[in-house]
Amino acid sequence: MKLLGISTSPRPGGNTDLLLDAFLRGGGDAGAEAEKITLQGLKLLPCTQCDACREKGWCILQDDIGAIYEKILLADVTALASPIYFMAHCAQAKILIDRCQVFWARTFIQKEILTPGRTRQGVFISAGATQGEKVFAGAKLTMKYFFNSLQMVYAGEILVNGVDVKGAVLKQPAIMNDAYKLGQKIVNQAAD
Ligand SMILES: Cc1cc2nc3c(=O)[nH]c(=O)nc-3n(C[C@H](O)[C@H](O)[C@H](O)COP(=O)(O)O)c2cc1C
Repeated sequence: MKLLGISTSPRPGGNTDLLLDAFLRGGGDAGAEAEKITLQGLKLLPCTQCDACREKGWCILQDDIGAIYEKILLADVTALASPIYFMAHCAQAKILIDRCQVFWARTFIQKEILTPGRTRQGVFISAGATQGEKVFAGAKLTMKYFFNSLQMVYAGEILVNGVDVKGAVLKQPAIMNDAYKLGQKIVNQAAD
């Protein structure tokens, strides 16, 4: 089983990055092959709605997205980690999400089964500074739609309020453990 973690925060070693590491460690300890990619340092252009993907089923923008598409399709579980910025994903995560319009087109225009015979799962990991009830509402809705377009089941989430300072989440070992356990659980469930 392959786990893919995508860290999108521009702050390496930040709260979502640490939660993602714990999730991948849990999955790895349960026997999965865990890989993490970090968007920082990659060249990813924003979608321009040129609509090429509607006809071709791939993206014509020349950057680092191709390898990410491949990894997403190969993974049994993809965990996307993004901080909340102004009640939404950070810009880096949103660029990736929008570039997955390719999969939306393949799913809903070309009616393609992306990975025949294989169920893939999606996990959302996020953190925000405030305690507001609705902090994750917008981003969760985006993830629901995102995973659906990628033909993934929305299998779980780790959403942490009230963490702002880099690494603050480490002061909440129970939450770090929840992320670790979710990684383990998802792998163990797939093995059942
Ligand atoms: C530009 C910007 C906008 C933010 N907007 C919000 C927000 O709307 N709600 C919130 O709860 N936290 C907000 N935050 C705080 C971050 O979500 C918080 O610090 C989070 O822990 C960062 O995660 P990271 O360490 O993984 O990058 C914002 C931070 C930045 C830099």
